[in-house]
Amino acid sequence: MREKNNRVNFTSKLGVVLAAAGSAVGLGNVWRFPTEVGNNGGAAFILIYLLCVLAVGVPVMISEFLIGRHTHANTITAFSKLAPGKWWRIEGVAGVFVAFLILSYYTIISGWTLYYLVQSLKGSFLENKDYSACFSSFVSDPYVPLLYAIFFMLMTHLVIARGVQSGIERFSKIMMPMLLLIIVILVVCSFGMPGAGTGLRFLLKPDFSKVTASVVLSAMGQAFFSLSLAMGCLCTYASYFTSDTKLVKTAFSVCTIDTFVAILSGFIIFPAVFSVPNVNPDEGPGLVFVTLPHVFNIAFHSVPILGYLFSGLFYLLLLLAALTSAMSLHESVTAYVIESWGVPRNRAAFLVSVSCMALGVLCCLSFGVLSDFTVCGLTIFGLFDFCASKIIMPVGGLIICLFTGWYLDRKMVYNELTNEGTVTFRLFRVYLFLVRYVVPFAIALIFINELLG
Ligand code: PFF
Repeated sequence: MREKNNRVNFTSKLGVVLAAAGSAVGLGNVWRFPTEVGNNGGAAFILIYLLCVLAVGVPVMISEFLIGRHTHANTITAFSKLAPGKWWRIEGVAGVFVAFLILSYYTIISGWTLYYLVQSLKGSFLENKDYSACFSSFVSDPYVPLLYAIFFMLMTHLVIARGVQSGIERFSKIMMPMLLLIIVILVVCSFGMPGAGTGLRFLLKPDFSKVTASVVLSAMGQAFFSLSLAMGCLCTYASYFTSDTKLVKTAFSVCTIDTFVAILSGFIIFPAVFSVPNVNPDEGPGLVFVTLPHVFNIAFHSVPILGYLFSGLFYLLLLLAALTSAMSLHESVTAYVIESWGVPRNRAAFLVSVSCMALGVLCCLSFGVLSDFTVCGLTIFGLFDFCASKIIMPVGGLIICLFTGWYLDRKMVYNELTNEGTVTFRLFRVYLFLVRYVVPFAIALIFINELLG
């Protein structure tokens, strides 16, 4: 289906929701969310996170959708079209740049998940060994993680090169249902483990004594990352929405799916973690790559078939989640290259894949041979993550809200969100209040906290 400017669109409502949810559901849900919950006191963090999704995540997502759908253009062109000759364009540039930066290191971690999937299928997690040492020696190897990252980038590339309908939409429609099915299977398996009760209590019993300002700010940062906000990805996907796509409803659906997947990932991980003595839920980022293999080994050494199944499905879940998110990061940059440089899709996708991988090599080596090379105390990987998620992302979210809340014509915003008055949006005033006051204030707080912290 093509619209007036001869641009391709998603062909179905399901495709729209699954592609956008695919962007949102990623390593942030399965890897980062349980880690944050573990570090920040369980259910209290989850409650605050839910509030952040509702008060900050949904309004910012609606704003991105409206910018993308109204302009039917890549993020940079979108801002230029809406504010010709104004400095707002910088937000579009930052969005595409940060998507490129994130893709370069997201690919490396995604490569790890692919490696762990292969290891689980080889039965490596059924052997008794020091999983922490195994992880360290793997990530510091100069070749193996790179090889897996290249393979992962190749998979992303092949989807993007096929285009919006036969690439992104088609694969999202296959991968997202698979991902949801795997989650349900794993939750059921995890509930059958001996530590299920303790794990569930940890997740469901709020301990408000752990709630500090920094926990609230972590929850907001997590919501931003997990919902793929302020990086041009959702804006780019929304530029492929048709004029009858219900933007507000789609934003609610995507936020609901993303939050469900994050919480269900907690339901998979914590019952498993609590089933094994002397394993802490607050292991940090090693939870998925060090703690879980240890849990798989202890929990399943007497029933190896379950070990293969549980660990294999778990890393497949991570891989699918990573792939659908990487697709949106890639598309954000590729759409810009196609439309602004006039390059055909195949070549644009190739350019993005190769240049991103070149940057990825530096991130990858920063866990090994380049680990001593630091800037302001951060390795290259740390620096990229810091710039992307701690600086450009919150500032980008702030700018998007100010742009839609204060700069854009209120009537145009209303018309876009109600499809020219054909759908109702009763909470329009609440939305405006949130994007004008609440979200900018909340984001400014995260930003200041991150800089000072
Ligand atoms: N939302 C993805 C996740 O939770 O892993 C990560 C991500 C994808 C961030 C796309 C930003 C983005 F633009």
